[in-house]
Amino acid sequence: MSSILPGKRILLVIGGGIAAYKGLELIRRLRERGADVRAILTKAGEAFVTPLSVSALTGDKVYTDLFSLTDEAEMGHIEMSRDADLLVVAPATADLLAKMAQGVANDLASTTLLATDKKVLVAPAMNVRMWLHPATQRNIAQLKQDGVAFVGPNDGEMACGEYGPGRLSEPLEIVAAIERALAGPTFIPLPVSVRLDTPLLPALPLAGKHVLVTAGPTHEPIDPVRYIANRSSGKQGYAIAAAALAAGARVTLVSGPVALLAPPGVKLVPVETAREMLEAVEEALPADIAIFSAAVADWRVADAGAQKIKKGEAGTPSFSLVENPDILATIAHDAARRPSLVVGFAAETEHVVEHAKAKLARKGCDLIIANDVSPESGVMGGDRNRVHLVSARGVETWPDMDKDAVARALVAHIAKLAGA
Ligand code: C5P
Repeated sequence: MSSILPGKRILLVIGGGIAAYKGLELIRRLRERGADVRAILTKAGEAFVTPLSVSALTGDKVYTDLFSLTDEAEMGHIEMSRDADLLVVAPATADLLAKMAQGVANDLASTTLLATDKKVLVAPAMNVRMWLHPATQRNIAQLKQDGVAFVGPNDGEMACGEYGPGRLSEPLEIVAAIERALAGPTFIPLPVSVRLDTPLLPALPLAGKHVLVTAGPTHEPIDPVRYIANRSSGKQGYAIAAAALAAGARVTLVSGPVALLAPPGVKLVPVETAREMLEAVEEALPADIAIFSAAVADWRVADAGAQKIKKGEAGTPSFSLVENPDILATIAHDAARRPSLVVGFAAETEHVVEHAKAKLARKGCDLIIANDVSPESGVMGGDRNRVHLVSARGVETWPDMDKDAVARALVAHIAKLAGA
């Protein structure tokens, strides 16, 4: 499988601890896979590895001091935290975890971690007693609830001579965790408590709204082990769900089978087939806004076998197909249940805008997001998207952006249309 790392920007925070040397190895492994690495070394980290070795491996300067005028002039800590695709803390000490859990910001690393809007992955390393201490475990539970991803620690012999959990994961394990983290939405939705606090945050345009999103492909069974599917990864739909959540909405995400984690705080309803998806959508109603981004299979096998079809028993099987319900058209044409704003997608391999215009009328939706999914576009399964917004008001074409950026822009646009 090809790596997701080429061109990705990783901001690595190296904490203090004997395992800090593995942070150096991690930089090498990431760079040889095509990622850009920028590093922040904490004061404690400097006791274990030198800024010079970190800088030699990243090929960049190393950032150490919050109050450095030259650092801030070249790249401020806020900008640094937003510029990355992912923040990684390795090794994450008990102290760093405690600061992150409490929102303490008293040095460059902790300030950057508090200011970021990107996903954070931590690889803890500490003495086994420190790891098992209720205070550390409380902090970890809090961080997980806040959407922070973890890798490790591993069990084993520690530098201090004790044995148990607390060893930093191996660099290649951390690389694999980074790849997994990058495969999903990479920005952090605002926490539920903040989203509900509308008077304090009038900037949340979808506060109080219920947004329903469909995403991913559907799997239509041929027999109990085989199915018809398509190449949809669900990334765009999941990013939209995360962006709607961050805009203050209550979000229900009805998803076909995908390899993504639902953004924390979103209500996920996993389904397999188009008919299950329709049922789940109907159950999730009423909604104020519905965004149908799923790549629903148009057809299913008429008589899916109850048993696995055996080769050679009756020659080569042939299947007759029947049309699946059109979920978008069903809901958009149902005056009683129709959300006030209905958005559809049109994935086309040619005449993208023309087909989308026809679909807008046929399906009865307010807006169609049309995109080119020809194999050359790399959109299906990829990280980027170039969309055209087709509505009764005309066509608007947006530049090529990553799917998270498309999702945020789309949610802002939809919030305006919904009059929020
Ligand atoms: O007709 P086509 O599949 O191109 O339409 C795409 C749009 O319709 C997408 O928004 C998709 O989620 C929705 N759709 C649906 N149910 C189907 C087929 C498509 O909701 N059976």
